[in-house]
Amino acid sequence: MSFAENSQKELDRVGRLISQLLQFSRPDKVEAEELVLGTFLEECAELASMHSTVRHCSVRLDLGEDTFAVFRSSADLLQQIVLNCMLNAADALVDSAREDGEIVLFGRRDRGRVRFEVRDNGGGVSEEVAARMFEPFFTTKEAGRGTGLGLFVCQLLAGRLGGEISAGNGAEGLVVKIFLRDVGEGVCL
Ligand SMILES: Nc1ncnc2c1ncn2[C@@H]1O[C@H](COP(=O)(O)OP(=O)(O)OP(=O)(O)O)[C@@H](O)[C@H]1O
Ligand SMILES: [Mg+2]
Repeated sequence: MSFAENSQKELDRVGRLISQLLQFSRPDKVEAEELVLGTFLEECAELASMHSTVRHCSVRLDLGEDTFAVFRSSADLLQQIVLNCMLNAADALVDSAREDGEIVLFGRRDRGRVRFEVRDNGGGVSEEVAARMFEPFFTTKEAGRGTGLGLFVCQLLAGRLGGEISAGNGAEGLVVKIFLRDVGEGVCL
């Protein structure tokens, strides 16, 4: 690789790193707002499709009977979590080179909580990666493509929303599960 190419990769890597950190370090309190499950996930899908890697994947929503379910949370922070997971899914689908690559955004109300899943059919992770994927700076991607902060930041954000995030292999790829508390009116996160 030439010096110029290498420098560009390093710049990309540092740029990504800074934007990941800035996303989390915004100190201002965010107020929870009323969100509609189907509308919220549709917006996530639309935003994600602006990324070149996601544009080539098909994205499907699985909302069961809960398309119009209402809950309170921070759209901004929750969106960052879902988008990060979608970018990871798209990366896995690119690597798997399968033609029927699909990202499924699953959402349900679940006894006072809201349950989200971001699923892909990109092959999932090894046991070793599964054990380490939420660690800061853990990445299996080459320099310039991943900083290893995506899931770490997602975990911090989920905690701030009063929720939890976990990931494991499903039938054909990774399943990331996000459980959120439905916070009350006027609550600051
Ligand atoms: N959907 C997925 N399928 C397969 N592996 C995944 C998936 N999501 C995450 N991983 C694995 O977990 C690692 C950590 O993910 P994380 O989002 O934290 O970092 P990254 O994607 O490598 O870099 P960054 O998100 O900072 O650009 C990835 O490098 C990859 O090995
Ligand atoms: Mg990532």
